[in-house]
Amino acid sequence: MVDTAAAPAAADPAFLQIRDVVKDFGGFVAVNHVDLDVRQGEIFALLGSSGCGKSTLLRMLAGFEAPTSGRIVLGGQDLADVPPYERPINMMFQSYALFPHLSVWDNVAFGLKREGLPKDAVAQRVDRMLDLVQLARFARRKPHQLSGGQQQRVALARSLAKEPKLLLLDEPLGALDRKLREQTQIELVNIIERVGVTCVMVTHDQEEAMTMANRIAVMSEGRFLQVGAPGAIYETPATRFVADFIGNVNLMDGRLEVDAPDHVVIDCADCRHYVGHGITGTEGMAVTVALRPEKIHLSRHQPAGDAFNRVPGTIQELSYFGSFTVYHLKLASGLMLKVSVANTQRHRDDEFTWGDAVWAHWSRSAQVVLTQ
Ligand SMILES: Nc1ncnc2c1ncn2[C@@H]1O[C@H](COP(=O)(O)OP(=O)(O)OP(=O)(O)O)[C@@H](O)[C@H]1O
Ligand SMILES: [Mg+2]
Repeated sequence: MVDTAAAPAAADPAFLQIRDVVKDFGGFVAVNHVDLDVRQGEIFALLGSSGCGKSTLLRMLAGFEAPTSGRIVLGGQDLADVPPYERPINMMFQSYALFPHLSVWDNVAFGLKREGLPKDAVAQRVDRMLDLVQLARFARRKPHQLSGGQQQRVALARSLAKEPKLLLLDEPLGALDRKLREQTQIELVNIIERVGVTCVMVTHDQEEAMTMANRIAVMSEGRFLQVGAPGAIYETPATRFVADFIGNVNLMDGRLEVDAPDHVVIDCADCRHYVGHGITGTEGMAVTVALRPEKIHLSRHQPAGDAFNRVPGTIQELSYFGSFTVYHLKLASGLMLKVSVANTQRHRDDEFTWGDAVWAHWSRSAQVVLTQ
């Protein structure tokens, strides 16, 4: 994850511009008025659940589908009349389909030879690509003699060999198991950044989007719900849907009781929230408080201080994840509150366990107040 998430300045037109793009499949709107600027060298992720329109948008960039309306501009060129094979774009699919009978070297060379590039130039380019993905020593192997992650890197080398200006990745790591996926995510980002190619990727795995992308668009039903850096989307989700979709969250419904410029108080069934900043709202309105499990602390005794941002509960369930434990607290209203505690010590004699009566508490900057 790179921390350069600002959108391009107005004076500097974005490398990729998507303007009010719609895709209507005979009455079914798969992509619904999408606008996006992607700057040169950025890795941008489209994140959303199955059927939300991610692949359709990517396929329009590649030219495999035409937008029903709207414009796509790449490097100043409107792509409307540019056929897929003339676009400076390469798309790597989920099933990256290496040719099984060809060596790694020939797989990477395939597209270049077909383009009619001179032999020497092909050889140079392929060697450079294999160095880049650190597979030069496997050049003579066949794909089945490589691990899944290595095959993925061959596919990437093949995609990059034609030196596209825009690289499209559709669920690039879908075929890999979890551990290999995490390792390959970082390798892929390193390679993409070294080449400097602009990249739009599709995933339904939020951790993958967070790890790989500079910015993310959260999609639902063909629309962008929120666009931002991974940290911004996680820490300041704009809607209930986004808060719930990204990471684990506790959502508490309540009423805006005090609406001051520098703080608000929200009355929920189990507790009262004091939030240390103002919001746009009116007293009495219904709001939702989003509270991440890792921002809540547990103690055996009632915390000192005022009566806000705390709630008693009983540990109903606990799940041990190695580096942290998630406790499920049952509150008076019946609501279950998830609390995540980092396991920083090996043995603790004061560990919480099933049935313990405890207090959960959090700071006045821990919550996000959602009005939609
Ligand atoms: N050629 C088509 N004709 C009609 N409907 C289509 C067509 N292609 C896609 N759709 C519909 O458009 C919606 C979006 O499809 P899309 O493939 O973009 O989803 P996705 O977000 O990539 O999902 P997944 O994560 O499952 O790959 C789906 O409801 C799908 O059924
Ligand atoms: Mg898809």
